[in-house]
Amino acid sequence: MVFFFFFFFFFLLAICQLSILIKNQPLMGSSTSVQFVETALSRTTGPFALSYTDPNQKWLIRKHLLSLLQEYPAFSPSFGTFTHNDGTAVNLFYASGELHISNGRPPIPLIIWLHENYPFMPPMVFVSPNSTYPIHPRHPFVDPCGATASPYLQTWIHPGCNLSKLVHNLIRLFSQDHPFLSSSSSSSVRGFSHPSLASKREALDHLVGSLHYDIGALTAKTMEEIERLSKFKVEMVKRVDSTRRIIDGLDHEKLILKGRVSELVEEADMVLNWLKVNDREIWVAKIGDEIENAFEAVGDDSNEVLDCLAADKAIEDSIYALDKAVEQGVVSSSDYIRQVRVLAREQFKNNATLLKLRGPTMLHCLDDSKLF
Ligand SMILES: *[C@@H]1O[C@H](CO)[C@@H](O)[C@H](O)[C@H]1NC(C)=O
Ligand SMILES: *[C@@H]1O[C@H](CO)[C@@H](O)[C@H](O)[C@H]1NC(C)=O
Ligand SMILES: *[C@@H]1O[C@H](CO)[C@@H](O)[C@H](O)[C@H]1NC(C)=O
Repeated sequence: MVFFFFFFFFFLLAICQLSILIKNQPLMGSSTSVQFVETALSRTTGPFALSYTDPNQKWLIRKHLLSLLQEYPAFSPSFGTFTHNDGTAVNLFYASGELHISNGRPPIPLIIWLHENYPFMPPMVFVSPNSTYPIHPRHPFVDPCGATASPYLQTWIHPGCNLSKLVHNLIRLFSQDHPFLSSSSSSSVRGFSHPSLASKREALDHLVGSLHYDIGALTAKTMEEIERLSKFKVEMVKRVDSTRRIIDGLDHEKLILKGRVSELVEEADMVLNWLKVNDREIWVAKIGDEIENAFEAVGDDSNEVLDCLAADKAIEDSIYALDKAVEQGVVSSSDYIRQVRVLAREQFKNNATLLKLRGPTMLHCLDDSKLF
């Protein structure tokens, strides 16, 4: 009896060691699996104590797990640390194995984690992709990391759902739409039973699958449209910018023109005012003909002298203008000389007339330009 007890004790110890060694590695053999599951469930303390607490829950887990292993011998149980999305880490059972879909298509490595509230919470299912077989994009039920969300999992309910049924459902699902092999939406229809024969579950899976592809196609189209529209928007924004710049330029010009107009109006006002003040008619009316006579020499002699002086000034101005014209190359030098000669003769005659009229002092006055 004592011997038997020791034997059992050592056996337990060996199992513990073994499970430490093969942590996260599946065990083979169904009787070993049973032992493994029972031992793991019986541990309540220590680093390998699982996060299942309720005895009823443990009983259901044992039942479902063993039923799965019996029905799908390719699966084997193990346990390990599972980290939820919120960061909490729990020690959970998992069953891992390969789903063999059909000849010619690659087997699908699968890991099924049993949630700490199993069977009230659905298990977490992951397809393990590798470099040879990545998960094809836009699979209806498996995301690129392998996380699987089939309608069966999403509508999981206890009692009614269990692991064997789950795997059965997954095999059917993946044989329609293999996670490693891309299939068009039409091929997802292929393989389903005739609608009248399809079970409710099958119809739901089918519906979800084709909806996924439809939504995928619609999303792609929408994205394309959005991209097209954003490009269009960029172009429009550019055009609005340049139009705005043009409008700004026109506004600026308008402002400048307005300024010019008001300046001109002001100037016109000033001219009008000046005219009002300096109106010749009014002056004439005021001081009569005196103003006319003010600029007229008295007597014929004086008139003649005035004409001569004016002619002299005019000749000087003409010569000056000719000088400038030669400088700017408008008049050739031969023309210049001819013209100047004519003008000089004219001036000489003029000088002589002046001399006759007023005597030598007159020329002196002319020289100093201090006639008046
Ligand atoms: C799993 O569920 C199916 C149907 O829902 C049932 O026939 C089967 O007995 C269940 N298996 C276990 C182990 O409860
Ligand atoms: C990838 O997975 C497939 C199917 O499970 C397997 O046959 C293959 O050997 C794996 N390849 C690598 C490189 O691990
Ligand atoms: C006319 O008289 C002025 C002043 O004395 C003198 O500078 C000028 O050379 C004279 N012109 C001629 C053509 O004699």
